[in-house]
Amino acid sequence: MNSEPAGVAPLKTQSLTELPAWKALEEHYQIIRNLHLRQLFADDPQRGERLTAEAAGIYLDYSKNRITGETLRLLVQLAGECDLRKRIDAMFGGEKINSTEQRAVLHTALRAPESERIVVDGIDVVPEVHEVLDRMAAFGDQVCSGRWQGYTGKRIRNVINVGIGGSDLGPVMAYEALRHYSLRDMRFRFISNVDGTDFNEATVAIDPEETLFIICSKTFTTTETLANAHAARKWALDKLGDVRAVRKHFVAVSTNAEEVSKFGIDPANMFGFWDWVGGRYSMDSAVGLSIMIAIGPENFRAMLAGFHAMDQHFRTAPFDKNLPVLMGLLAIWYNNFFDAQTTAVLPYDQYLKRFPAYLQQLMMESNGKHVMLNGARVNYQTSPIVWGEPGTNGQHSFYQLIHQGTRLVPCDFIGFCNALKPLDNHHELLMANLFAQTEALAFGKTESEVEAEGTPDWLCPHRTFDGNRPTNTILADRLTPYTLGTLVALYEHSVFTQGVIWNIDSFDQWGVELGKALAQRIIPELESASEIPLTHDSSTNALIRRYNQRRKAQS
Ligand code: F6P
Repeated sequence: MNSEPAGVAPLKTQSLTELPAWKALEEHYQIIRNLHLRQLFADDPQRGERLTAEAAGIYLDYSKNRITGETLRLLVQLAGECDLRKRIDAMFGGEKINSTEQRAVLHTALRAPESERIVVDGIDVVPEVHEVLDRMAAFGDQVCSGRWQGYTGKRIRNVINVGIGGSDLGPVMAYEALRHYSLRDMRFRFISNVDGTDFNEATVAIDPEETLFIICSKTFTTTETLANAHAARKWALDKLGDVRAVRKHFVAVSTNAEEVSKFGIDPANMFGFWDWVGGRYSMDSAVGLSIMIAIGPENFRAMLAGFHAMDQHFRTAPFDKNLPVLMGLLAIWYNNFFDAQTTAVLPYDQYLKRFPAYLQQLMMESNGKHVMLNGARVNYQTSPIVWGEPGTNGQHSFYQLIHQGTRLVPCDFIGFCNALKPLDNHHELLMANLFAQTEALAFGKTESEVEAEGTPDWLCPHRTFDGNRPTNTILADRLTPYTLGTLVALYEHSVFTQGVIWNIDSFDQWGVELGKALAQRIIPELESASEIPLTHDSSTNALIRRYNQRRKAQS
């Protein structure tokens, strides 16, 4: 069938690279590719204040990017030619913009205030969203107050979230990020990997009688999560003895009530969400139950308010003042014109240590696509590879390459003006490093500056920094639940902006299917006591054969 799926906006046929703004950007790139940030700052003393934007408590300094006013004008023109405004409205309006799965994309409804009305398939979803939030809050309250007891009457002291991908990375990232606000007399752990080590280590030295598992899976069919959920059930029942204990020690977050109840979880203890919430966009739904228990409903709602504030900004601000749009367009500029292959996210806050890992799924599962909405292959690069570590650790590890390597790595630096728990002058040391890094990356150190310091000639090239390495600086007052919400929404919408320009479906993930299917075929070949004839390629056959032989030899 060649016809487009029903309910989907007409798919663009004109290639991105044929658009007037794209062609103009190609020409413009040739003019400014060697222009140095030193020059740009010297020519415009106000640049560092001019090329900034602020919304919802987030200050974005994008002045240390290799752009001029003309670059920005053309990038904004490109957004217009790609119908970004229409696509934003379509997303917020509940149109089925996830065309390959024929689904609406409405994570923005998860943080909509009760007064809003958002209709999907004839139903206003906002009351349902708030009903689930209220149930989560009531449940969290029962657990934290001790009114929810384990099967043997003990208080719950350990909460373990079992999930993977979007059902893990969001909860664990946000739990770590908001640890300052979390209950300190309870333990929160996260099991994701099917590697038994993850389960074994998470359950070391804790008592099943005091442990609550949240089995978190949108589909409730994910192999890794179900394997860990069954291991948890066995671990709990080994001590608790009675299958009725499952109801007291297991709750579920899912869209699949049937599978949840097959597992033995009381449907009354299932927290639902909807197929219009993608896994990687779900931490503010019931998927965030562990976060809600850890930080309490008030803080959770503050986080939602932060998300919503950024949503509103994204929806209404003009593109040249719109933080997610600006960040998305800058990402396109480096990815497609400078041919940068990666981008680094460098939070100067230890609480954000899992933020880069969270963004890896958000960015790469969303935009790592090779065909456009109409199924034709793209003739340009899509998502960059994202990576990062918290500052200052990265400085003593990989920053060398960012400063003096041969590759261009655009970086986002994220910092806060106030520490949550100040320790002597540590926060000043931390932030001085952030500011110093962006300064060094932009301006570098010329050979003559190095010579003037008395450096011997032979050493000068090694001590020279070219500079002209682009960065964004994202600055907020302090890391609060509200700020975390704004930050996550900022990246969600930047990713969406990029996906719209590339004309891809940022909300499906067909690329993970093949490996899953092949693993299902291989599992019995590793489990079987007798040898099963192998019909893979010669490499895969040999690896499986060696694994089976060596395992038998060791047992
Ligand atoms: O396989 C990828 C994926 O589908 C992700 O998109 C998702 O976040 C993850 O698996 C977990 O899926 P589920 O929540 O259904 O277990």
